[in-house]
Amino acid sequence: MRVLVTGGAGFFGSHVVDALLARGDAVLVVDDLSTGDLANLDKRAVLKIGDVSDPAALAKALRGERVDSVVHCAAKTKVVESMEKEALYRRVIVDGTRNVLDVSKTLGASVFVNISTGGAIYGETPECAAETAPTAPESNYGRFKAEAERLVDLSGLTSITLRLANIYGPRQRKDLEGGVIAIFIGCWKRGEPITVYGDGSYQRDYVYVSDVVEGVLVALGGKHRGVYNIGTGVATSVNDLVSALTLVLGPPADIRSAPARRVEVLRGCVDPSKAARDRLWRPQISLADGLRLTAVAEGALAAPA
Ligand SMILES: NC(=O)c1ccc[n+]([C@@H]2O[C@H](COP(=O)([O-])OP(=O)(O)OC[C@H]3O[C@@H](n4cnc5c(N)ncnc54)[C@H](O)[C@@H]3O)[C@@H](O)[C@H]2O)c1
Repeated sequence: MRVLVTGGAGFFGSHVVDALLARGDAVLVVDDLSTGDLANLDKRAVLKIGDVSDPAALAKALRGERVDSVVHCAAKTKVVESMEKEALYRRVIVDGTRNVLDVSKTLGASVFVNISTGGAIYGETPECAAETAPTAPESNYGRFKAEAERLVDLSGLTSITLRLANIYGPRQRKDLEGGVIAIFIGCWKRGEPITVYGDGSYQRDYVYVSDVVEGVLVALGGKHRGVYNIGTGVATSVNDLVSALTLVLGPPADIRSAPARRVEVLRGCVDPSKAARDRLWRPQISLADGLRLTAVAEGALAAPA
């Protein structure tokens, strides 16, 4: 198969690229490298540097290409920044998705996998949210991702939207919500104290990156359509995360407290039952194992002999 991965130089997209190459697919990447990094990208992938929000540039970058399917990861992803830069976020997420859908038709793609967010689309989730829960995005990021989902749904392409929980793993960015794991592991590695904001009780659904990628590979088969949550269905507090990391890495140098920071929701968690029921995906990697794999990849823990 020949697959187009938008945002393929980013944290998540680059793991998708690696998995596609590993199974023998040819991979084409469109990325403007605004938050992505060339160092993330396997040299066997063909990179077209381009901005998905610019339809002419996108068409030019992909002229003459053919692909079987598309994984659309390119986006601006920072919740707080989305409130300050509304126009940019609308342009990249909404217009960008429209442009990628249009170009996918030109390229002959028969399956479109849209990467969306569970963390920012459901709002506060006292119970882990199923796909049928009303969406209540509080940020422009979540609002525009919801709008992009509608465009995908109406596109006429065979499409699936995956609403991902907070992803963590190697190459993770430190400036996103799930980045707390990357930040903590960095502190452990350097022997520095960790900082817990507020009472450490806010909870997120942390899912290991290569676990999520398995869901993308199945989704590319084109047998599933519509919206699916991809997460563990387990809400983990920052305090629980510190305990889990302590079991993997030993106690931190110190734990410092700082005043609570404004968080979008206190509890964010998605229910992945539909994906399991429809044989699309189920989580395979526990938090303990995922933390261990991440710590090894980041050099905070020796690889098992
Ligand atoms: N990281 C998470 O926890 C998480 C959770 C839920 C959903 N997601 C979704 O996963 C996708 C990837 O996010 P990520 O965490 O890897 O972030 P990332 O910033 O590492 O990746 C985004 C990629 O898109 C590229 N990009 C941004 N604007 C672009 C544009 N206008 N044209 C072309 N390329 C552009 C960036 O350069 C980068 O390589 C996003 O759609 C995001 O909404 C991420």
